[in-house]
Amino acid sequence: MSNVVQARPITGWSGSPDYFTMREYDGFVPEAVLDVLHGRAAIVMFRGMVPRDVCDAVTDRFWASPHRKVRGVEAPGFYLGAYSWNKPTARYLDESERVNPILRDLLDMPGDPMRRFYAGLGDVLAREGAHVRPASHGGRSAAIALLRSWHGAGEFALDPHDDDSQCADPQMADFERRHVVDHQVAALNICLENDSEGGRLVYWNVRPDVESKRALDVEFTGSPYPLESLSEYEAQWVEVRTGDVYVFNGAHVHAVEPNTAAAQTRTTLAAMMGFIDDQTVVTWS
Ligand SMILES: [Fe+2]
Repeated sequence: MSNVVQARPITGWSGSPDYFTMREYDGFVPEAVLDVLHGRAAIVMFRGMVPRDVCDAVTDRFWASPHRKVRGVEAPGFYLGAYSWNKPTARYLDESERVNPILRDLLDMPGDPMRRFYAGLGDVLAREGAHVRPASHGGRSAAIALLRSWHGAGEFALDPHDDDSQCADPQMADFERRHVVDHQVAALNICLENDSEGGRLVYWNVRPDVESKRALDVEFTGSPYPLESLSEYEAQWVEVRTGDVYVFNGAHVHAVEPNTAAAQTRTTLAAMMGFIDDQTVVTWS
């Protein structure tokens, strides 16, 4: 008798082909970010937005930084920044306060891609009377970014997961980010280093409902979803290259494919964002 538990198929919301198909642009088109933030598009891709020399300058500083940390045991990666996943608010903000000056120093260069992204987004938000700022609590601010790098093999470098469940985590019920669950959760990824064939983003056309999340015990973590539970949903495999910037609706299940060789590396600069009311987009990591 097999003791493998058959995964129950996930139920949830799926978008139309027009919504789900990736919208691709040459360079930065900030208006397209609003399509994701307002739920009109699943994913937008800005090809080659960040010049190679800027990517190299950021990754050189990342790899040279004494503040870079190891994450994970089976498939270790490196990161610099703070992540809010599965943490109480105070701990995340302590870590954010420690790391923000380091991140600001690291990104302090002509062409800083985060500054460019938020300047463009701020301009288009201003036209609808809105603005973007880091999520805050008690006068303290969320981390501005998370720099991370994956290596090597395994089925996925990052298992199938969603980014919206964590916004409902009771450990962070006092954090203003919780209001994002009433809007769209958008994930920003800036690819700084990926010259291999692998490292694609896999993106399924389903936002799991809360019943499915509870059944899998991922209601507040969003991770992991068994691959078999996703089989009936369409998936996009998105090639990502150095300098590409993409924004997608993080409520959809997504994963990162491993690199094709252990020596190869995929390094990204990432952040999350979403409206908390009609005038305010907050960011966190
Ligand atoms: Fe994610």
